[in-house]
Amino acid sequence: MSGYNALAEVYEWLISDAKLAPAEFAASFDDVLGLLPSNAHVLDCACGTGQLAVGLAGLGMHVVATDASEAMVRRTAELSEEFGASVRTVRADWQELPGHFDDDTFDVVFCVGNSLHHAEGTRGRVAALESMSRLLRRGGRLVLTSRTWELVRARGSRLDIKDRLVRRNGRNAVVVYRWDIAPNWEDEHHIEIAIAQVDTAGPVLARSELLSSWPYRYEQLEAELQRVGLQTELSTFTLEAENYMVVANKV
Ligand SMILES: C[S@@+](CC[C@H](N)C(=O)[O-])C[C@H]1O[C@@H](n2cnc3c(N)ncnc32)[C@H](O)[C@@H]1O
Repeated sequence: MSGYNALAEVYEWLISDAKLAPAEFAASFDDVLGLLPSNAHVLDCACGTGQLAVGLAGLGMHVVATDASEAMVRRTAELSEEFGASVRTVRADWQELPGHFDDDTFDVVFCVGNSLHHAEGTRGRVAALESMSRLLRRGGRLVLTSRTWELVRARGSRLDIKDRLVRRNGRNAVVVYRWDIAPNWEDEHHIEIAIAQVDTAGPVLARSELLSSWPYRYEQLEAELQRVGLQTELSTFTLEAENYMVVANKV
């Protein structure tokens, strides 16, 4: 399993401004949400600190939020409480999901914010997608967002120090990504993420985590979605954009 327990504590310094407010994060999926009844059953299966799950619950949807990281699930439960939202939280790896939920349960499954690359290689990724597909009712949709790994790999190994301080909860932090790009697509890659919160009085609070990653090409992802019974309905993939969204329908 990929880490994230140390990063959970400082995760808001890693996410964009647009993802901080639950309602705003949920609204970024308005096109898909517009196709659903307001009481739809929704699973966010890599919920992180819970902003999307809480935003969806705020729209009246029945929301379950799962994540492999205990600390992330705890933060999602705390955020739900803070917003008075009704979100069921479960700690579960993607492959464990069918042990927690019946097949054909959800109208939508979200796997967003660059999560799927943590599934271990082709086999792990297909198993994860298979779990998500099983839980969708026929006609239900998987909504997946991803980095454009073709671009990330083309840049090679590097240290990426963000050129602006990130300010959250009255504290500034420097955010650093170290990309360790393996020679072949199918090899295990690593991403080390470090956050150093700085204080004008001097103290620095640092947190970091080394994460495993197995990138994939877009065309590979499409083929894998098909393999688990999901048909791409909408895709924003282009080789020019850093991120893309795929919406796939359970046929
Ligand atoms: C980059 S974060 C994205 C979180 C959130 N979706 C967002 O958009 O901010 C990736 C998330 O995937 C979770 N994750 C990693 N491996 C996982 C696995 N095998 N099963 C379920 N969740 C996993 C991590 O714990 C982390 O919360």
